[in-house]
Amino acid sequence: MPPDKSIAHRSALLSAISEGTSQIVNYPSSADPQSTLSCLRQLGIEHEEEDGILYVHGKGLNGLQAPNKPLDCGNSGTTMRLISGILAGQDFDSTLVGDPSLSKRPMARIANPLKEMGASIELTEGHAPVHIKGNPDLQGITYELPVASAQVKSCVLLAGLYAADETTVIESKSSRDHTERMLGLSVFSLGSQKHISIRKGHRIPARTWSVPRDFSAAAFFLTAGCIVPNSELRLQGVGLNTTRSAFLNVLQAMGGQITIENEREFAGEPIADLVVRSSSLNSVKVDGELVPILIDEVPILSVAAAFASGRTEIRDAHELRVKETDRIDAMVKNLRLMGADVEEFEDGLAITGGQPLKGATVDCYDDHRIAMAMGIAGLRAQGETTIKDAHFASVSFPDFWDQLDEMAA
Ligand code: S3P
Repeated sequence: MPPDKSIAHRSALLSAISEGTSQIVNYPSSADPQSTLSCLRQLGIEHEEEDGILYVHGKGLNGLQAPNKPLDCGNSGTTMRLISGILAGQDFDSTLVGDPSLSKRPMARIANPLKEMGASIELTEGHAPVHIKGNPDLQGITYELPVASAQVKSCVLLAGLYAADETTVIESKSSRDHTERMLGLSVFSLGSQKHISIRKGHRIPARTWSVPRDFSAAAFFLTAGCIVPNSELRLQGVGLNTTRSAFLNVLQAMGGQITIENEREFAGEPIADLVVRSSSLNSVKVDGELVPILIDEVPILSVAAAFASGRTEIRDAHELRVKETDRIDAMVKNLRLMGADVEEFEDGLAITGGQPLKGATVDCYDDHRIAMAMGIAGLRAQGETTIKDAHFASVSFPDFWDQLDEMAA
């Protein structure tokens, strides 16, 4: 499986603002983490790769240079939202742009807290381009997240590195916790809430980061292993951070025959080898607090549901409407084209599975996870499936189609 995209972005950003040279082992070649690197280069951060190790020459919290043109975040929401937190505290202005998909995604969710901290942020109707007038005298705030979003949480915490006093983010539903882990922040649980605080100038030493393998990528092959008869796949060294891996528990609860072997720690993150075998799946209900910790896996969960007996319902997943595409709409349309029985809700979808699917020509709507989810559905559908613009998989998983081909063979 490819290296974890979320951890990779953070390792590059933290290396850039630490003092000295950091090494990143396993930095992914996929498009999104490469967008983060190219933005950092425009901000004066040099980096080079040698023998599979990326060396990033950090310049400290205040060593970034003003960019001489807009920073292009490509398709990457994580790049745009996290780097905005850092840029808000600089003594220069910057502009962030993205591709047509990223230019439609909501950015007020980061602009609002950053403005509260004293940065001046201009958007166009809530969207990119994001114009940031940096302010080295930001104020610390206490911010209760209005949406469960690790990107917003991380943006505010990174801005907190530049803000007087303390900045605290309060989350009432857990979202992926890589930023707080990698910054070594203390997290206090108060009832059902988590309080995460950071202080101006929090030290970020240069160091070696190692990026574990991406659970969100493994999710496609875990599903393939379950739904394709006579399968057995072993996925080595996959990240199993509990704020990311709920899909594994859900798939097991559906009857997925998955064993977890060789559990260990790798670079501060739990990892394990996963062995999956063909399984007879049953329906499941997914909602509430589960949703943010399997948010990226909902497209592939919908595919698993189409091959499970009974009615699977996924609710409280409004956030899927503002991902790289509207993932509820995309999965409803694509699964219906394959003959599945699907009901659409504003906040999710229900799939009554167990009927054979037929191959179809489907669209990935320029979304890597929709492309890969439909690839797995196509493995098991009767007849041929064509996925338009399937190359979008390379946003997070450049080898996806080759690996699928190899496993299918
Ligand atoms: C990510 C957080 C999630 C996720 C995205 C990566 C991250 O987005 O969907 O793929 O690395 O912080 P939200 O924080 O917007 O839910």
